[in-house]
Amino acid sequence: MRHVPAPNPAADAAEATAAFTALLTDEGRALLDGLRDHDPAQELATATRLRREHPAALVSAALGQARLRQRAVAKFGAQDAYRMFFTPNGVEQSTRASVATYRARRFEALGVRRVADLCCGIGGDAIALARAGIFVLAVDRDPLTCEVARANAEALGLSDLIEVRCADVTEVDTSGYDAVFVDPARRGGRGRIFDPEAYSPPLSWAIEAARTAPRAALKIAPGVPHEAVPDDAEAEWISDGGDVKEAVLWFGTTPGARRATLLPSGASLVGRGLPDPAVRPVGRYLYEPDGAVIRAHLVAEVAAELGEGGLVDETIAYVTSDELRPTDYAAAYEITDVLPFNLKRLKAIVRERGIGVAVIKKRGSAVEPEELRRKLKLAGPNSCVIVLTRVAGAPAMLLGRPAGA
Ligand SMILES: C[S@@+](CC[C@H](N)C(=O)[O-])C[C@H]1O[C@@H](n2cnc3c(N)ncnc32)[C@H](O)[C@@H]1O
Repeated sequence: MRHVPAPNPAADAAEATAAFTALLTDEGRALLDGLRDHDPAQELATATRLRREHPAALVSAALGQARLRQRAVAKFGAQDAYRMFFTPNGVEQSTRASVATYRARRFEALGVRRVADLCCGIGGDAIALARAGIFVLAVDRDPLTCEVARANAEALGLSDLIEVRCADVTEVDTSGYDAVFVDPARRGGRGRIFDPEAYSPPLSWAIEAARTAPRAALKIAPGVPHEAVPDDAEAEWISDGGDVKEAVLWFGTTPGARRATLLPSGASLVGRGLPDPAVRPVGRYLYEPDGAVIRAHLVAEVAAELGEGGLVDETIAYVTSDELRPTDYAAAYEITDVLPFNLKRLKAIVRERGIGVAVIKKRGSAVEPEELRRKLKLAGPNSCVIVLTRVAGAPAMLLGRPAGA
């Protein structure tokens, strides 16, 4: 009978930490540097070659780390990603540099000089805070993650500004800090966690910790219902390149405020409590608000910027107007056709107009854009934007082009 060893998480963790620290030796670093441009498809051949000169455990740790660095480029950029270290969870859960930098600058503008970063992970936020000149106490309870955070602070020359402490955040004294930042773990063994009380630490703990500090920011899922936002918090939704990345609850700023911030521009819209815009007939222009604006319930604020801006339907976040007014907060399209949805008619139009390229957008329509694209059999030299939506309650198709194109 084969002997199956009993699980021993402590021994596994110690082994993982030892494998990681071996990467920080001169031999480990040289090995890793040599893997910068390695092709993952050639991993087996690379591993066989390297094992002739280096211990097998070190080669496998280096190859694993090289893969993580390649994944991290999208979040941290090549320059930092190839100097930093990661764990699989760490790269997955870390804040992307653009968002972390924006938030760090906001802390800095609020006069914050010392932050307790509770749940620091591999240091995505801690690095941005330190680069903004803020001293960071970076706390995580996972020993390997702490080693990685420490290595990152050193690799980026930020060790003087980042003190990594391996501890449970619920046991850390944050008095003496101008602000706390909490980025709870929102993934468990079964994937993404939706219940804020199942975050680690739970959101209610993070809110209480926030209230004890002069200022605080808590990172939460962008899908948070507005009713769950405490009255004494500002809620900010942040998008980057049009994708909503996260929501943050700020304490010590403007209680009750709702804000949408769009990166990379940094344009930031604050709610004025305007009522929903009225529904109006589709005008010459259609505006598609950024996802952060929609999540922050600030479509009315954008409509107010657009002259006689109104909604195409009371349940749909498309704004229409007869004027073209540049706005950071919405993409604008010039509309040429407003028609009831009809596939046969749409096929005829794209054929007659020689449309070979179509951007298909939908909001409030059950039609699948890719299925529609197949059915349309697009061919020809021209392009258009097709918007599938509801107009005053009825399924509609709007045709147009990017405004000003
Ligand atoms: C979402 S990640 C943080 C990512 C980090 N902000 C970054 O940008 O790299 C959450 C981290 O919280 C840590 N964590 C969860 N519960 C904790 C607790 N009670 N005490 C300390 N750390 C905890 C996890 O180990 C994990 O590394």
